[in-house]
Amino acid sequence: MPNPHKPSLSKESNYWREYFDQKADTTDVKSSRNGYLSNANARLMHHTVQKTLGSLRDQRILDVGCGDGDVTSALTIQNDIIGLDLSSRMLNVASTSGVIPVCADMLEPPFPPNSFDTVICVEAMTCLSQPLEVLPILTKMLRPGGSLLIGGLNFHSMLRRLIRPLTSTLGTQHPRLIMPGHCRAILDELGVHLEPTIWITYYPGFSLQGEPPIMTPIIKKWATNFLIKGLKR
Ligand SMILES: C[S@@+](CC[C@H](N)C(=O)[O-])C[C@H]1O[C@@H](n2cnc3c(N)ncnc32)[C@H](O)[C@@H]1O
Repeated sequence: MPNPHKPSLSKESNYWREYFDQKADTTDVKSSRNGYLSNANARLMHHTVQKTLGSLRDQRILDVGCGDGDVTSALTIQNDIIGLDLSSRMLNVASTSGVIPVCADMLEPPFPPNSFDTVICVEAMTCLSQPLEVLPILTKMLRPGGSLLIGGLNFHSMLRRLIRPLTSTLGTQHPRLIMPGHCRAILDELGVHLEPTIWITYYPGFSLQGEPPIMTPIIKKWATNFLIKGLKR
């Protein structure tokens, strides 16, 4: 199994590993532990992910960047959930809710091709310096006909662009913003048949799948986050 502590781990990934190790040790509040700004934001994201995945049974599911396992722990009763994360301390928490922990870098997952029925990666590829690099890796681990669900911070969000320069002054490392359109183009090339993008706006809290054409520019700029689901052909 690749060693996530090896020197070749990027500076950015080392930062996030230490950041989430510390979160796991210092807070019992799930939303904060998983890096969300509020309970409401975490609830909206996790609820939308769970609704989008639907009720799954007898599946082998990989939760990439699983954090404390809050996204997928409800599925552990009827499925095998493998949680992959860089932070061993987050994984310690995840394992208490039935998630099978694997400590590894998502860019070097220790699994052969076609090994999962479902692969999800929610708010985690955003921690990579080049988030889109992980898309071929996630797709490769999925069996043909399996489902992929990814999510991240919306590059087009006006709010995120407004806040970013302010929080920069605090000296914090920023997660990367991602262009949903670029993800879609890459996944399409990789042979993933995509559903319309799910746009998530934290303020006010709601989600919307697809968009009427006249609303496209508004929703794109308003949504703080996004989810994309697809089936590997
Ligand atoms: C913002 S948290 C999201 C946790 C969970 N997916 C959720 O939505 O509640 C991001 C997680 O990704 C993990 N992570 C960051 N970079 C990673 C990498 N290169 N490989 C594996 N996990 C990584 C972090 O340790 C952290 O637990």
